[in-house]
Amino acid sequence: MYKIGINDTHNSSIAIFDENKIIFVSEEERFSRCKQIAGFPFYAAKYALKKFKIKPNQIESVSFATKKITGMNIWNVASDFSIENWYDLQEKFFYPKIYKNKKVKLKKIFKSFKPSKNVHYSLKKIPLLSSGEMSNRDYQSIKNIRIKFASNFFQISEDKINFFDHHTCSAYYGYFSNYENFKKRTAVVTLDSGGDDKYNTIRIFDKKKIYLVKQKSKSLIGQIYDSVTLILGMNPSRHQYKLMGLAPYAIDYHKSKTRNILLKCLKIVGINFKKEKKMKDYFFYLKEKFKYERFDGIAGGTQDFVEISLTKWFKNINKKFKIKNFVFVGGVANNVKANKKLIDQKFVERLFVPAGPGDENLSIGAIYCNTVKNLGYLQAKNIFNYENSNVYWGNDISLEELKNFKNNNLVKKYYSFVHDPDFKKTSKILSKNKIVLMCFGKMEFGNRSLGHRSILCNPSNLNLVQEINRKFKKRDFWMPFAASILSEDEKKYLINKKNIEANFMTLSFDSLPKGQKKIIAGMHQYDKTIRPQIVSKKTCPRYYQLIKKFKKITGVGGLLNTSLNVHDKPIVCRPIDIINEFFVSKNAIKNIEYIYVKDSLFKIKKS
Ligand SMILES: [Fe+2]
Repeated sequence: MYKIGINDTHNSSIAIFDENKIIFVSEEERFSRCKQIAGFPFYAAKYALKKFKIKPNQIESVSFATKKITGMNIWNVASDFSIENWYDLQEKFFYPKIYKNKKVKLKKIFKSFKPSKNVHYSLKKIPLLSSGEMSNRDYQSIKNIRIKFASNFFQISEDKINFFDHHTCSAYYGYFSNYENFKKRTAVVTLDSGGDDKYNTIRIFDKKKIYLVKQKSKSLIGQIYDSVTLILGMNPSRHQYKLMGLAPYAIDYHKSKTRNILLKCLKIVGINFKKEKKMKDYFFYLKEKFKYERFDGIAGGTQDFVEISLTKWFKNINKKFKIKNFVFVGGVANNVKANKKLIDQKFVERLFVPAGPGDENLSIGAIYCNTVKNLGYLQAKNIFNYENSNVYWGNDISLEELKNFKNNNLVKKYYSFVHDPDFKKTSKILSKNKIVLMCFGKMEFGNRSLGHRSILCNPSNLNLVQEINRKFKKRDFWMPFAASILSEDEKKYLINKKNIEANFMTLSFDSLPKGQKKIIAGMHQYDKTIRPQIVSKKTCPRYYQLIKKFKKITGVGGLLNTSLNVHDKPIVCRPIDIINEFFVSKNAIKNIEYIYVKDSLFKIKKS
């Protein structure tokens, strides 16, 4: 029997367990080709049902994450709002409401706004309402639409459908997705910009019980970070990481004021948060306070604030519960620099940040919640007590897809190909400082490319950073690239004294001189920290084989690894996406010298 988990907020996703084993997880964005799309994960679900030949009578349960979804969320604003829209939301909606005590309606301000892609629920029945405008009846009505839709889609009775709290899903995902967590008493901390009326939770996963720690306050770390991202002119729902990349360049002289302002806005008291009373909202209050500050200082000061606050909060959790092992989940756990600060603390023995810290994980978490509800915590631990250390859970590339790729007119016209299943030729090409677009095996889950849908190149050649940016990524000049590193070379390239598992690019570390020589292009260019994917034979055998061969030729035990996508598009899912999104002009095609699909290496023909 199959258990299905659904996240239909932004970063919509579906998870499928066959009995108790994960067989498929994918974000809907990969199939719909709209980044962070909200709504029912329609195309990802269709793909999975067909691929695994799942019949309605084989579906044991469908578990939804998040009990209360706003109209605004279903309307896909997290994905579709432009910077101008976010400004309108602040200036025309929140400002008159908060500062002028006026009644304003979101619907009226965004009269002509429509989601760019189908979110599958009928928007005629779901008005565009913000959380402050939603009544319990509105929430119930959306819930009914979700139930009806799932019941029709999967052809199952409504009593097989259940709902679980947003942060509980996140927490259970973080805990159960790695059985190493079971070995010691662990605090699972969640922190995001809000879900089911909560922003943060602490749970202690003891030997026999899970304790939800009562907190009296809301953390606004996520909200503040989002607001500052907008103040700096960047998209507050998807470009927070750019602020983090910029932060190391700021000197203390420029960032100290911002840091101090923010530390006053939100104080840590024990395991709670205390908000500055004068701060009625975040955006306008902070915009005014930052009026005379430099952009880099604002980024640096905000990042400092997050690091200082999180460290203090975790320290207080450690003190109160005598706990040294942590799991950290939720949007804020995407902050790899803050995670580094936590790892560096004496009181932290172990920190686990899973592959998908953001809302994409909720579909998996919902299945874990359902299992704990039905069988209890101890039984759930017995069931999920298996090593599951990779996250290649998405679509696999079929022979037919490879055939279609080979037969595509543009591919035929511009490329020749060779069969290269063991990467003999591909590793050689990489060693010659060529950039290769990789698309093989099952797609990775989470917002990082982990080798199977990646753009790869030699990490010891710094010139390639500019070449990748010029040709494909158009990344901001201050943003670092990451690297995949062979497990046997990890200790030579970076400092990880506590042996923290770093398989998913969710943590960062200081580099060693050898690392700075061998993988200089795959680290932050200013502070030389590395956000690694540690690759072992056990976790990703084929990718391991490729890097190993590359090392044999070059002596470098890693590759620069950046996601296979064009600017602001989701990571490539199927080979056809490369054609649709990369082959936009003759010049664009000429820029792509090498593409690897399934088991074949395509090389551009000389013209
Ligand atoms: Fe969340």
